[in-house]
Amino acid sequence: MTRFDAEQPVGAGGAGCPPVAQTVLGLHGQSTGLSGACGTRLVEGTPRRPLATSVRMAVNLGGLEMKNPVTVASGTFAAGREYGDFVDVASLGAVTTKGVSLNGWEGNESPRIAETPSGMLNSIGLQNPGVAHLKEHDLPWLQARGATVIVNVSGHSFDEYVQVIEALEDAPVDAYEVNISCPNVDAGGMTIGTSAASVEKVVSRCRAATKRPLVVKLTPNVTDVTEIARAAEAAGADALSLINTILGMAIDAERRRPQLARVVGGLSGPAVKPVALRMVWECAKAVQVPLLGMGGIATAADAVEFLLAGATAVAVGTANFANPTATVEVIDGIAQYCERHGVHDVNELIGALEC
Ligand SMILES: Cc1cc2nc3c(=O)[nH]c(=O)nc-3n(C[C@H](O)[C@H](O)[C@H](O)COP(=O)(O)O)c2cc1C
Repeated sequence: MTRFDAEQPVGAGGAGCPPVAQTVLGLHGQSTGLSGACGTRLVEGTPRRPLATSVRMAVNLGGLEMKNPVTVASGTFAAGREYGDFVDVASLGAVTTKGVSLNGWEGNESPRIAETPSGMLNSIGLQNPGVAHLKEHDLPWLQARGATVIVNVSGHSFDEYVQVIEALEDAPVDAYEVNISCPNVDAGGMTIGTSAASVEKVVSRCRAATKRPLVVKLTPNVTDVTEIARAAEAAGADALSLINTILGMAIDAERRRPQLARVVGGLSGPAVKPVALRMVWECAKAVQVPLLGMGGIATAADAVEFLLAGATAVAVGTANFANPTATVEVIDGIAQYCERHGVHDVNELIGALEC
């Protein structure tokens, strides 16, 4: 077994970043664009599990029982297997898989990752091998380890979202997260998630296709996120997750060229956290269903902020690329925060912001 030891750096990142990040991103030795954050090296070890705590850590996300409030953000943890040497996937609140489509997509042209101050831009474009591959290779692996599984569902059309869910109904899946917010595809994705009418339509159709908990993932690339949140709730979402990446771009002035082949991409990492927190706080006041908060969470302090703003659970995303054990550290840190503040049940933190 191997793991990364964040306390014993091996210098600059780029291609020197954790190989797990390059694998998940499909970079094969190119830079991950995470150079500032990659002070890690491989050492022998066993997958990390959270420390024992007297704090009650279980939460319920719209019918999904999570043993603690921490999952991973889709697309930053593959289907869990790539992180299995670092983290006991069963000890997470849930593993959220990379977005899956019916037949698989190749994704966008490279370069599709760029580093920006306190963040990264990606235009991966929902590359994935398709739902049959997920069922055959990844879901059995997660099931054998006892992981709680959220499958992130993507599609080019309303029909495709439904077909993916239907294909998964006989598979060991605990909940679906419907991604109507990817900024990196031309059809489906964010184009669906920016209009309340199309959100109602796609969510109602997904709702009719399953009785399992249905989480709908919202885009931040709208004027009023609460309008979209209300539409998803009205159409039958059991929970909402937010935020997906924020549209951005980066330019190489020397070459007078965009850094991404697709020109624009989705911004993630610490740079987006204030926007994400604001949107979680707004949605918490606008809807009754629970929220899964994400956007720039790298530490337990970040995660607690999201819980206080109104999230029932949180997801660690881009941080996984620089620190493959970030999830377990966040779980431990939340429990320690609770212990320090005399909080016996993590649910007491949800929406407890005083303002
Ligand atoms: C490389 C990469 C791939 C992603 N792929 C997906 C995806 O397949 N489906 C999805 O809903 N979100 C996807 N996202 C968005 C993340 O799940 C998350 O919403 C966003 O990155 C904000 O969280 P973070 O700042 O902690 O990374 C992706 C993000 C990154 C960085």
